[in-house]
Amino acid sequence: MSSIQESTSKVIARTKTDWNIPASIVSRRTINPIRDVVFKMKVTPNPEKEEISLALGDPTLYGNLNVAENCIDAVITQLKSHKANGYLPAVGAESARIALAKKFSTKEAPLTPRDIVVASGASDALGLAIGALCNEGQNILLPRPGFSLYQTISESKGIECRYYNLLPDRNWEIDLDHLASLIDDNTACLLINNPSNPCGSNFTRQHLECILTLCEIYKLPVISDEIYEDMVFGDNIFYPLANLSETVPILKISGLAKRYLVPGWRVGWIFIHDRNNLLNEIRDGLASLSNLILGANSLIQSAIPDIIMNTPQSFYDATNRFLEENAKLSASFLKKISGLHVISPQGAMYMMIGINVGEFKDIKNDVEFSEKLVQEESVLCLPGKSFHYPNYVRIVITAPVEKLKEAYQRINEFCVRHHV
Ligand SMILES: Cc1ncc(COP(=O)(O)O)c(C=O)c1O
Repeated sequence: MSSIQESTSKVIARTKTDWNIPASIVSRRTINPIRDVVFKMKVTPNPEKEEISLALGDPTLYGNLNVAENCIDAVITQLKSHKANGYLPAVGAESARIALAKKFSTKEAPLTPRDIVVASGASDALGLAIGALCNEGQNILLPRPGFSLYQTISESKGIECRYYNLLPDRNWEIDLDHLASLIDDNTACLLINNPSNPCGSNFTRQHLECILTLCEIYKLPVISDEIYEDMVFGDNIFYPLANLSETVPILKISGLAKRYLVPGWRVGWIFIHDRNNLLNEIRDGLASLSNLILGANSLIQSAIPDIIMNTPQSFYDATNRFLEENAKLSASFLKKISGLHVISPQGAMYMMIGINVGEFKDIKNDVEFSEKLVQEESVLCLPGKSFHYPNYVRIVITAPVEKLKEAYQRINEFCVRHHV
């Protein structure tokens, strides 16, 4: 008996005598499908060719897309003020919530600061929204193909993921019949992502209205991930989902990462759109959950009013113009390559390319396509398997034009070499 046991009159219930420290159940069921697929891939680039990555959804990767000067000044001002170093309310700085409400309120979907929760990136906002709406054992409806973090967050919380199909030949609209077939009494909410990662699609107003009708019928609240809001090209118009419904409760997710080209600043937000007071408990739930990390980065939050009010329209226009030109160039280049099926993007920063595997002599699937492309041409793209969508690959279109052209030239040579 140890001296500590001798010196206490309490009976110690613990019988363990050996060290054994297993990882928790929650940590073991927290899986990033992209890592899972990519770590298993044989991805040694060809040492003779410079690596070109079209795999990472980070617009800062090549240094060609930069944050607006006024945003940098806004952060410097906050830093020098010595007023942005402390803790803020867990749901977000009041100044940030006032500015966000003012900037994003519309006649159709008004917002007050009370309707806003600031989070550590859209990722954290998604975690809060899913955590507030869904219980362990319930199910959530997710897009296929879709951003893999939805699965990571949901499975981590013990929520069943049910995947509704997107239709590539209808600009990745939702197959609404399939979606409806997945709903049951245990369905906690629908998650949609528009404009889409990985599809680069943008839903029409009519399609969004059909989705809302379905939610109205089945009484489903929606998490609407609009992190790529307004990043659309040509004749496409972006409609915030909440502008189109007075009845369906919606948690809209967005943030600074993509529109302001600062994913590393880690600030996102949730807008609670609830005209009929159906989300009162959810509001409280979001506030409780925001205490888990005591709120987002105070320096960047404090700069939000300046960032969102003073960034010139010309900055957003220039980003969209760049993405649109790259989207056009990508589609026209890749469409000429035999064996590929190209769907032109309408928004965001991505496009999905179908691989007609039957037309290749020695490529069985998207993972092999991506592996061989790295090994032979040092071009990296993500296999569709990471989005539950085999025989497609996702490419990111934010690289400088010259890099894209070089990458597509190499993809062309690769496809010619492997085509039957
Ligand atoms: C669809 C989608 N939602 C959310 C996020 C996460 O954004 P954040 O960097 O603000 O966490 C991303 C990032 O790539 C995304 O593509």
